[in-house]
Amino acid sequence: MTAICIANNKGGVGKTTTAVNLAAGLARLNYKVLVVDMDGQANATYALTGRVHPAPSVYDVLVGTRKIDSVIWQTNEENVWLIPGDGRLQNADVELASKPAREWRLARALTGQEFHYIIIDTPPSLGVLTQNALAASTKVLVPISLTEFSLIGIDKLDAVIEDLREQLDLPDLEIAGVIATFFEDTTTSRETWGILEKKYEERLLSTRIPKNLDLEKAHREHESVLSFAPSSTSGLAYMELAREVKRRVAAHSRPYNRRSAQAY
Ligand SMILES: Nc1ncnc2c1ncn2[C@@H]1O[C@H](COP(=O)(O)OP(=O)(O)OP(=O)(O)O)[C@@H](O)[C@H]1O
Ligand SMILES: [Mg+2]
Repeated sequence: MTAICIANNKGGVGKTTTAVNLAAGLARLNYKVLVVDMDGQANATYALTGRVHPAPSVYDVLVGTRKIDSVIWQTNEENVWLIPGDGRLQNADVELASKPAREWRLARALTGQEFHYIIIDTPPSLGVLTQNALAASTKVLVPISLTEFSLIGIDKLDAVIEDLREQLDLPDLEIAGVIATFFEDTTTSRETWGILEKKYEERLLSTRIPKNLDLEKAHREHESVLSFAPSSTSGLAYMELAREVKRRVAAHSRPYNRRSAQAY
């Protein structure tokens, strides 16, 4: 089991789209994949099932009123399972504030799960939900949109990962890759790609996700783009991304066990 957090505190950069379609791509490479929706917008939940703000959800697991096995659902994608999110997650910062080991609640709940990959979608903020997602993961993938102004604020995420690594003793937590999204054949797109190459070097994945409307259409049909339009530009790119991620972040068949989660 390998847990990957998809994070960027900036909104609308393609986190959810990447979580859903990367999961579908890894499933097509014969891996069992669990998606965890840690965002109160619950977009990944809608994209994979068509359901809007279902309960119970990961919220009930985080506050301790549900066991995780009762909130794992099948999705419209073969080999992809989902722990849904719902709107109550928006109160999580306040509700978890006084709970002990509040950053470890997801990691602890996932212990023993048997999937090859867990892909965790996060909200566009760096609060307790994103901290839970990071603490539960060893690898972070950061989608960055190749549009103007998309790089403003990106260093904040680096700083949060650095802080968590120290505070929670997570020496192995690292950015495994930066994924360029919304790629277009324009000067801005190419210039931003050039800046990312310089800044992230080998951490910049070579697969670029093009700007493509089929992603939005697939979302509305509650399917991955790999089911909805496999030979579209974005369908091909997400399949390629899954292959690249598989090479960089190996799957493990051992049951999930985040070392530090055991301490609580
Ligand atoms: N490569 C792309 N080309 C065109 N549209 C895209 C692309 N990626 C995502 N979108 C669309 O852009 C919008 C934002 O994408 P998405 O929801 O994945 O971003 P996000 O980072 O998860 O946003 P948030 O921060 O609000 O959670 C969605 O409507 C999605 O369908
Ligand atoms: Mg999202």
